Amino acid sequence: MKNDLNVRTVGIVGCGLIGMSWAAYYLAKGFAVRATDPVANAEEKLRAYIDSAWTLLEEMGLEPGADKNNLRFSTNLKESLRGVDFVQENGPERVDLKLKLFKDISDAVGPDVIIASSSSGIPVSDFQTEATNPARILLGHPFNPPHVVPLVEVVGGKLTSAENVTRAVKFYAQIGKKPIRMKKEMKGHIANRIQAAVFREVLYLLDQDAASLADIDIAMAHGPGLRWAILGQFMNANLGGGDAGIKHLLEHLGPAMEGWWADLGRIEHVTPQMAEKAEAGINEILKVHTANDIAAARDNVLLQTLKAKVADKRLPY
Ligand SMILES: NC(=O)c1ccc[n+]([C@@H]2O[C@H](COP(=O)([O-])OP(=O)(O)OC[C@H]3O[C@@H](n4cnc5c(N)ncnc54)[C@H](O)[C@@H]3O)[C@@H](O)[C@H]2O)c1
Repeated sequence: MKNDLNVRTVGIVGCGLIGMSWAAYYLAKGFAVRATDPVANAEEKLRAYIDSAWTLLEEMGLEPGADKNNLRFSTNLKESLRGVDFVQENGPERVDLKLKLFKDISDAVGPDVIIASSSSGIPVSDFQTEATNPARILLGHPFNPPHVVPLVEVVGGKLTSAENVTRAVKFYAQIGKKPIRMKKEMKGHIANRIQAAVFREVLYLLDQDAASLADIDIAMAHGPGLRWAILGQFMNANLGGGDAGIKHLLEHLGPAMEGWWADLGRIEHVTPQMAEKAEAGINEILKVHTANDIAAARDNVLLQTLKAKVADKRLPY
């Protein structure tokens, strides 16, 4: 796929849940993929994953020349990454491993090849220090599964150059992702912080017996969640403020919201009881629907929503 970085071949390091999904996405966008993972049966799992994801990717629209067989796998990182133009790293979420991995990757590829990490929580600053030319190491954090969900959060570490962050943001945008650029590193980036805030409150509501787990989920999925799939909190609030917009809304509802904030759950630990109660609530739903059916329906509706979002050019983002 045409892009200003002139990337033709993408290196995928680590072929677990996230690496397999990224590999499928890059193949669907017409790139050659060179994947590596030290686990011997990773190749078999990777190819099976790509086979199963391909129908959905076809429905989303393959780029000309996209071929799921344009994939080479090796357990040898150095051999695998020879000649790649961009690297997406998806190794285990451990700082000691990432530190070594980024040294190895940066030694294996050309000095200007951008190396993006999928890390959910480790700041790039913590694992770029031993790498060759750390200025090209940055975060490209996807949302699971990356072959479906467009968001990629991009930010550099202390040693990353701003130009490379700009180039990576542009690259992701050009290959059909929806990148955002963070102005600074923060634990959990943006989207996981928002998820964590919501998760804290739903766990609290369940713990307090405010409603059944199904009803708490319905409150999200048939209420604000519908709007959040289209516009973020700020723009939704702006529309909620009528002609006077967000400033009016915040002035008007701000004091009431301060009262709700004061009442929100402040859970610090997930107790075994909370996990058991959550599981019991989920099991009630699974008596009637299978998890496979729910996942397939979720993916189907997600796809239709994504198509509708792309089609309506009046949306601001
Ligand atoms: N799971 C999620 O929802 C999610 C979402 C976004 C980002 N991430 C991030 O993506 C990364 C991978 O997460 P995951 O859920 O796919 O984990 P995972 O455990 O499924 O996969 C990690 C893979 O890395 C491989 N690996 C181990 N050592 C390696 C090495 N030296 N070189 C190459 N590969 C090596 C493992 O064999 C495994 O296949 C993490 O940094 C995680 O924070 C995860």
